[in-house]
Amino acid sequence: RIRSIHAREILDSRGNPTVEADVILAGGASGRAATPSGASTGKHEAVELRDGVKDRYGGKGVQRPVARVNGEVAVTLQGMDAREQAAVDEALIDLDGTPNKRNLGANATLAVSMAVARAAAAAEGLWLWEYLGDPLKPLLPVPMMNILNGGVHAGWQGPDFQEYMIAPYGAPSVAEAVRWGSETYHALKDILKARGYTTGGGDEGGFAPAVSTNTEPLDLIVEAIERAGYAPGREIGIALDPASSAFYSNDVYSLRTEGLTLTAAEMVDRYRDLTAAYPVIVIEDGLAEDDWDGWRLLTKALGDRVELVGDDLFVTKVDRIDMGIRKGAANAVLIKPNQIGTVTETIAAVHLAQQQHWGAMVSHRSGETVDTFIADFTVAMQTGHLKTGAPARGERVEKYNQLIRIEEAAGDTARYAGRSGFVR
Ligand code: PGA
Ligand code: ZN
Repeated sequence: RIRSIHAREILDSRGNPTVEADVILAGGASGRAATPSGASTGKHEAVELRDGVKDRYGGKGVQRPVARVNGEVAVTLQGMDAREQAAVDEALIDLDGTPNKRNLGANATLAVSMAVARAAAAAEGLWLWEYLGDPLKPLLPVPMMNILNGGVHAGWQGPDFQEYMIAPYGAPSVAEAVRWGSETYHALKDILKARGYTTGGGDEGGFAPAVSTNTEPLDLIVEAIERAGYAPGREIGIALDPASSAFYSNDVYSLRTEGLTLTAAEMVDRYRDLTAAYPVIVIEDGLAEDDWDGWRLLTKALGDRVELVGDDLFVTKVDRIDMGIRKGAANAVLIKPNQIGTVTETIAAVHLAQQQHWGAMVSHRSGETVDTFIADFTVAMQTGHLKTGAPARGERVEKYNQLIRIEEAAGDTARYAGRSGFVR
């Protein structure tokens, strides 16, 4: 039973405040969790409550959501059974009383929801992944490593596309996949240096070179994969997150680096060319968050070959995923717990995708902490792939390191998803 809940304001990896919550049970077991924060947030996401008091953290303080947790949330949840995650989350949803968690803030509800799960797992003496899933069937995900950052994550200095990821699906284990990814990351660094590019990092730890087109990073990455000694396509694939809502307005997509303005149909043609020329197996947010017609076009054109992931399009919400299923828009869902605000609702989104044989890719945010909840969550939900940034920077590698620990602890029962982790 929950004895006490306490939240505080801590910093995320961008140096902005976020909410951390501690949950202590009557038996003494406890759980701690912190909520991450996005930069290229979808407009349909649950509300991240901030103070808006300009002389504290430029208005980004989170004393209001922290106070909600330490007040009404702590009082309401006290005495509840921590193992009843659905009931706890229902209580949070009821207490908030709005469709978008406007009252409590999804940053408040998620920290509490995750900390409750952690405390319950600790009380049972289980790993979080064992507690949330089937302890006999851990599926280790392909790490989707974002090694080249553009868009808003690189201050619009580099490509328009926000993320260029590598997927070492040909590796025999997650520990080996992490090694392959790290070696490719370092090979890319050498290549960038040799070309006279800066090797400074974007928000998710990838390099942020000032390239002049959106395809140049693909050439650089293919070369890096080869230089590291791997086969592009066969052993390591490439995933893109253009995060195109960020460069969409007035029905067109504006590619600043290339001086081009494209319609949805022209964007689809471009993606068709890209996937023919490069081993691109995933495109996330190829089109904008409300461009349903464009998404249908894209899915018709590439849906049988490429995993088309909706992030801003679905914002981890079952009603929007349901709409996508009915419209034939996308074939996979990005899963970000803080887009919806509770563990139970996040699980519902994963289950809906899986029932439809859609992909479900769990994801970090560009503003992160060292919290590893999503690593355990991904293993438990058997989603087959996890994107959590570059193989560099503490807040990114801590998730990959947790996968290595889980694989080691699971021993013979551990299975690495490999290529089967993707829709195709
Ligand atoms: P964000 O970026 O966390 O800044 O929203 C991640 C993504 O778009 O997938
Ligand atoms: Zn995205």
